[in-house]
Amino acid sequence: MLQDAQAYQAQVEEAADYIRRRLQAAGETAPRLGLVLGSGLGGLAGELEGGLRLRYAELPHFPSSTVAGHAGELALGRLNATPVAAMLGRVHSYEGYALERVVFPARVLARLGVRTLVLTNAAGGMRAEWGQGRLVLLRDHINLIGNPLAGPNLNGWGERFPDMSRIYDRELRQRAQAAAARLGLALEEGVYIAVSGPSYETPAEIAAFRRWGADLVGMSTAPEAIAARHMGVRVLAISVVTNLAAGVSAAPIEHAEVLATGRRVEAQLGRLLKELAPVLAQD
Ligand code: HPA
Repeated sequence: MLQDAQAYQAQVEEAADYIRRRLQAAGETAPRLGLVLGSGLGGLAGELEGGLRLRYAELPHFPSSTVAGHAGELALGRLNATPVAAMLGRVHSYEGYALERVVFPARVLARLGVRTLVLTNAAGGMRAEWGQGRLVLLRDHINLIGNPLAGPNLNGWGERFPDMSRIYDRELRQRAQAAAARLGLALEEGVYIAVSGPSYETPAEIAAFRRWGADLVGMSTAPEAIAARHMGVRVLAISVVTNLAAGVSAAPIEHAEVLATGRRVEAQLGRLLKELAPVLAQD
């Protein structure tokens, strides 16, 4: 849990200052839109025009992912003429990172001036009718990972008890649905349950989660969404159903399959994000 709020805030500012300087040196404008591209979903970075790529390892205080399929680069450039900052890969609490480290990049993006954050993830689907590869917009979440705001509040950035009743912005979801319709892509909506992992769930856990009203299960997104909302950033989140959750299908779940499904639909997700970028960057 976070101990020293001032030291943490200084680290976030240092990372944001570093990125700002690199952007200025390259003659690039500051991003208004942030993207976090999850497991096997980083291909969109190839669509960015101009800009630069910074490895997490060279960014002050940035955590680096230890998982195959997570690249560990920040790509800055224009997506459909919109200046964006795209994180290729994220870290998770199951890797051993404290939650304030997990949400560190989201906080840096907010301090860079990003007003809207799009979080993407690979998730297990709990609805048998959603096949592998389905794109699902998060309407809400149930967070079992733990709260990234625990510890002293980061004064000046957000309040102690922020409201989460509209965590995934309804208006942004409407814009996303309109963009998907223009592209002829099916985009479902559902409730995401965030679990710590790294083991996949048991069938009994999935049966319980379904009764709670969850439609998707995954190991990320909720902490970053909470931290971003804490700082007043608008959040949209999209899951790729990479597999059916435990017990929904009799097949065992394998990480390689999760990555392969992600790669299969990443082009579709990329088209959607490209269409969405200018629409989401408007306030
Ligand atoms: N469970 C949890 N996380 C996941 C899954 C799953 O079935 N698929 C992809 N991420």
